[in-house]
Amino acid sequence: MEKLHEDNEFTCDSKVKDDGDKQPSTSSNGKNNNVSDGDGALEKITKYLSEKLQLSTTDEDDDDKIEKSEEKILSELNIDGIVNYINEKKCKKIITMAGAGISTAAGIPDFRSPSSGLYHNLEKYNLPHPQAIFELDFFKKNPEPFFVLAKQLLPEGFKPTISHYFIRLLWEKGLLLRHYTQNVDTLERVAGLPNEKLVEAHGTFHTGKCLECQASYDLPWMKRKIVRGTIPKCEECLEGVVKPNIVFFGEMLPDRFHSLIEHDFIQADLLIIMGSSLVVQPFASLIDRVSFKCPRLLINKEKVGMQDRLLRLIGLRQGFDFDPKNRDIGRDVALIDDCDTGCQLLSQKLGWGEELKTLVENEHKRLDAEKL
Ligand code: OAD
Repeated sequence: MEKLHEDNEFTCDSKVKDDGDKQPSTSSNGKNNNVSDGDGALEKITKYLSEKLQLSTTDEDDDDKIEKSEEKILSELNIDGIVNYINEKKCKKIITMAGAGISTAAGIPDFRSPSSGLYHNLEKYNLPHPQAIFELDFFKKNPEPFFVLAKQLLPEGFKPTISHYFIRLLWEKGLLLRHYTQNVDTLERVAGLPNEKLVEAHGTFHTGKCLECQASYDLPWMKRKIVRGTIPKCEECLEGVVKPNIVFFGEMLPDRFHSLIEHDFIQADLLIIMGSSLVVQPFASLIDRVSFKCPRLLINKEKVGMQDRLLRLIGLRQGFDFDPKNRDIGRDVALIDDCDTGCQLLSQKLGWGEELKTLVENEHKRLDAEKL
């Protein structure tokens, strides 16, 4: 089983900055943008490898094979194609995958957006590199920066966004097989998504554990300490620091994640990915676990998770292909927009626009009333 790690160990996407900072690339074109063939180098490597290994190199060859064996998956390679697919093919097993981008409209910053992302605003903590804030070894030595940051991330008064309620609507309509989230803000729970439909892949702030004696603590207890600016110390052993049950780099993802991905992805008939840079593994590669016939819709401010042509060359057909040579056989659609706008558009086209609007209004009113 794979531990939590960033993609840059395996792909060319995340460049180590000149100053030695391990900050990941924030390319506007997504994770594989740096595998550029602009200077012809990639083409040369591709040609060399193909000659040596006697592999086929052209997209057309691959596409031809699919064309011969597969029926057209989407009527159009755009949002209308997805809408027709949902309406006509009676799809009932949708998996949604989310990242920090679905919560930015609630006021919670994401990690990697230029200037507003958390990893770009950590200078004051004097970290060896931005991700150190989520590394266990660093946390054990110096938990303070994490808890200062946690104050900003705590699910305190944040309201779920339109995107969260769109996912709930999919569930209410009996279309949601599962929602996989990387977010630890618990907003899916606040939006009313039942536990059984939810996989919190990177854990959650909902509970915490003493690193010494493993005693469990709940969110209200941790929140009281964190909000006051104190480091939560275990009241049982009086020794250990209480760490929220979020997955740090180098830690294993929850068992629930590993057991459910085995069964879920192969049965999915539509995959919707929202608000993630898709650079953290093993989450990012979940997009390749669905069947070749399963359409994949990305709703994000930028294109991410694109196919790595070198991996494809050696037979690992990974990542999205939003622009196949033959558009008739494609199945990946990118809706490059704000997640909330994308979810509203999709709902309107499906005839659920008013329903989504009313759900958001009523739920936000209810949450406001609870605070009074
Ligand atoms: P990132 O910050 O890496 O990526 C967020 C993505 O969402 C980017 O592609 C943004 O362009 C996009 N985005 C931001 N706001 C958006 C909006 N309103 N609408 C549409 N797109 C938007 O966040 P994640 O992919 O979630 O790990 O990061 C993955 C993991 O890296 C996190 O779970 C965290 C971090 O290290 C842990 O905390 C363990």
